[in-house]
Amino acid sequence: MNLPLIKRISLVLLLFVSAASIAQTRNTASFNSNWKFYLGNATDPQSATFNDASWRSLDLPHDWSIELPFDSTSPTGTGGGALRGGLGWYRKTFTVPATTKGKKVFVDFDGVYMNSEVFINGHSLGVRPNGFISFRYDLTPYLHYGNEKNIIAVKVDNSKQPNSRWYSGSGIYRNVWLTTVSDVFVDHWGTHITTPQVDDQSAKVVLTTTVNNAKAENGIVLVKTSLYDATSKIVGTSSNNIAVPQKGTTNTTQQFLIAKPNLWSVDRPYLYKAVTQILENGKVIDEYTTTFGVRYFNFDIDKGFFLNGKHLKIRGVCDHHDLGCLGAAVNTRALERQLQILKDMGCNAIRTSHNPPAPELLDLCDKMGFVVMDEAFDMWKKEKNPYDYHLYWDEWHKKDLTDQVMRDRNHPSVFIWSVGNEIIEQWDKDGDTLGAGILRELVSIVKSLDDSRPTVTANNEPNSYNALLKTNATDLIGYNYHHNDWDSAIIKWYRKPFIVTESVSALQTRGHYDMPSDSIRRWPQQWDKPLTDANADLTCSAYENCATPWGSTHEETLKVFEKLDHVSGMFIWTGFDYIGEPTPYPWPARSSYFGIVDLAGFPKDSYYLYQSVWTDKPVLHILPHWNWKPGQTIDMWAYYNNADEVELFVNGKSLGVKKKTGDDLHVMWRTTFVPGTLKAVSRRNGKVVLTKEVRTAGAPAKITLQVDRKAINAGDDLSFVTVRIEDKDGNLVPDASNDVQFKLSGGGSFAGVDNGCQTSMESFKADHRKAFNGLCLAVVKAAKAGKVTLTATSPGLSSATVNIDVK
Ligand code: GAL
Repeated sequence: MNLPLIKRISLVLLLFVSAASIAQTRNTASFNSNWKFYLGNATDPQSATFNDASWRSLDLPHDWSIELPFDSTSPTGTGGGALRGGLGWYRKTFTVPATTKGKKVFVDFDGVYMNSEVFINGHSLGVRPNGFISFRYDLTPYLHYGNEKNIIAVKVDNSKQPNSRWYSGSGIYRNVWLTTVSDVFVDHWGTHITTPQVDDQSAKVVLTTTVNNAKAENGIVLVKTSLYDATSKIVGTSSNNIAVPQKGTTNTTQQFLIAKPNLWSVDRPYLYKAVTQILENGKVIDEYTTTFGVRYFNFDIDKGFFLNGKHLKIRGVCDHHDLGCLGAAVNTRALERQLQILKDMGCNAIRTSHNPPAPELLDLCDKMGFVVMDEAFDMWKKEKNPYDYHLYWDEWHKKDLTDQVMRDRNHPSVFIWSVGNEIIEQWDKDGDTLGAGILRELVSIVKSLDDSRPTVTANNEPNSYNALLKTNATDLIGYNYHHNDWDSAIIKWYRKPFIVTESVSALQTRGHYDMPSDSIRRWPQQWDKPLTDANADLTCSAYENCATPWGSTHEETLKVFEKLDHVSGMFIWTGFDYIGEPTPYPWPARSSYFGIVDLAGFPKDSYYLYQSVWTDKPVLHILPHWNWKPGQTIDMWAYYNNADEVELFVNGKSLGVKKKTGDDLHVMWRTTFVPGTLKAVSRRNGKVVLTKEVRTAGAPAKITLQVDRKAINAGDDLSFVTVRIEDKDGNLVPDASNDVQFKLSGGGSFAGVDNGCQTSMESFKADHRKAFNGLCLAVVKAAKAGKVTLTATSPGLSSATVNIDVK
């Protein structure tokens, strides 16, 4: 072979690397399948002799609460989505090959809600109260090998209620993994990567690896790390020989210089990989991959946030962890769909309110380009609910926060650690040092593990007696709401960089409009007063005219936000509706009205407001629909961008040209309804940019189906099918509520159904769903490859069919 030297070297390296990865050094396998589940308590289900034949078989992740009926008497309350918690048991029988003897075997839980206790072959491995934290147990000392069976049993106790201000779900609702490693291995969350010096020319990468020697003898190993770029080209290597004392852990640090690094950004989320091998006597005994990004950032007190030297306004949303009809059961495709919808809106940041997220969310944010505020707690020692985490605070907060930071600190998407949301200790009176002490402790825990990111608390008390802000302990000042106080925030608080940790809390039902559109409803009228004058059908208006008194409409806050340079970013409450917290309504409302997107994933109108301000893609969105009573006075709104004017026509007759002036974020025409066609035309310099038409819809006549992806993978991949109720001419019928029956053939099954209605008492796990304001959703999955056919029927409507290829 006559290859140039450089090519020969890379070929040798490539062969070396692939040979090393072929060696079965570390195996992390899904441990999700073939579990048995029982809702209720049982006598000694952890014992090997317990007979679980009558228990239900299922695969994880699993949320039992989402399967239950809505229940006005549920102790979770409407805040918890009126879905019950309870106590449940999971059991799984498995074998471990004899060849595994001598290795270490761990079980990794990404999250169990809540109060879990895990048993292996009758031995309790431990309890974990926190329902959002990831944890690992060492199974090795208790395992049977070969044909002898092992029993893992997990008790999950979510029976003490209320313990959450929002829907928590119940059960092993995140993924479980079985990790097998040799007895000298990279420890749990055992790498820490930072990029302390970065510019366009080079990046210094520092990797500290914690090597665990589980053997009863001292040893010497070689730790060899190669950095790969996104094309799998090696861009740095380092090898250290280290002594690893018996039964202990040892840290080793390696440094690299990447020339002309590809920087991670929200527009170009470029990822590198560090592959760390441990070699003993020349043999690779472990291999551990850490994904990372190279980027630098700073918060400027006056000018806001800079990523890689460029100004970036953090335009974020808060979200809770439930995935609508899937409940809390994590699903990567469902998370990805949410993020895609948000990205298209111009959102570039996520706040994991108010708890550690599923690891998959951070992986997706790394890949898709979102800045993340990773939040730890919704309460500290002082309670918000009688059975919430405050009960476990003293014993667990240190461990939980440590584990969260250890788990998440290599993610390039993570930019800020929030150590608490609206913490009651803000109001500690003079002389009460509880909150101040806790805050200082939490910040020092974070800093001891990661000093590369700022800390913050999300404060809803902006006044000078806020005991947390007074400590000056966090790097950033964070406010929830109070948009009229943002101007003075940094002056008040020691001139520190400022971020709006939570904003807006507007209230909207998709497709529902209360006129006049320019009179604002504050519901409830005051935060501590009951609601007195809201809608009997428990709707909130989707014009920008309904909001909580502590919050604002989207436009009210957006106007201030975009103007103030020192406001580095904000996180809108919320991106998506979530189950629980149906402010402003009581039962039978059971899910939130705060989302820019409804629970089913259908955008409300405000979505296009943000899209018109936060993106360059041409937007012309008109609202509301055009089905009203003849003679009724209607406010027509348009959100638009990339144009200087919009003209609206009714049945060909112009209602005039409107232009946004000053602070305007929309234009409006007040008109009298006549049935027919509404046409909006946006123009720039006299040239048409976009046109939009809305017609008065006739009676429901047909169903149409739109799939988000026509091909999915077998397993937990999902196809989201939007169901539209249309008139005979294809117009969406804006108030249609037809019950749509779904049928699947070809081996598919329903992951859930929904319509985004906050008061629907229908089950998320049925095979039919009423449309709500013209739309509903079916989520389809398939266990095996093939072709799945979804048919949707409803009495009096022509049916529709769609095929989904399963690979
Ligand atoms: C905030 C709180 C959120 C949610 C929201 C509703 O004060 O941080 O968790 O409750 O209010 O408006």
